[in-house]
Amino acid sequence: MPRYLSIFGVLLFILCNFRFKNYIMAVAKPFNLTKWIEENRDTLKPPVGNRNLYREADDYIVMIVAGPNARKDYHYNETEELFYQLEGNIEVHIQDEGVKKTMKLGPGDMYLNPAKVPHSPVRHENSLGLVVERKRVDLPGEDGLLWFCDHCNHKLHEVYFPLEDIEKDFLKHFKDFYASEDLRTCDNCGEVMPTDPRFVADED
Ligand SMILES: [Fe+2]
Repeated sequence: MPRYLSIFGVLLFILCNFRFKNYIMAVAKPFNLTKWIEENRDTLKPPVGNRNLYREADDYIVMIVAGPNARKDYHYNETEELFYQLEGNIEVHIQDEGVKKTMKLGPGDMYLNPAKVPHSPVRHENSLGLVVERKRVDLPGEDGLLWFCDHCNHKLHEVYFPLEDIEKDFLKHFKDFYASEDLRTCDNCGEVMPTDPRFVADED
């Protein structure tokens, strides 16, 4: 066989393999989420409250997220995020054009957070919800973390970065912020945001 044909064959194989491995998720049978929750309830307790339901998915992150959580940060991402509450209650604080608003969700309630709206979900004990968001791979833009003064809602600090691992990439920025009283001090009213060991707990 001419050499160029074998090289062509190898390239074709790599191309096909790349395409199928990277762009097409294998067909997965439907499953009963209610039953899955009952079977996995023990794994949805602190410190690890998140379970990814479709690790092989190409476009979406589909998670079951349990409470309680301890977070003061707002998360910024350039795509939408769907919250569907299954059990218990959560509050999703958002920053809507400089105004803090709170979305309260109980069992059966749904909220679609628009792209680019900073949001801070506070999850109560024994709460359980479904969260759907876009994977960031191949998408332009960065994720961000922001903090706002509890007293006057003035922005205390913001940081933006390409998100690679949704469970690990935040921790460094949490540690930087909570370790610095300067960053936690409001330029507008002087209030210092208190810190808490739970805010920088490594959940791995
Ligand atoms: Fe303030």
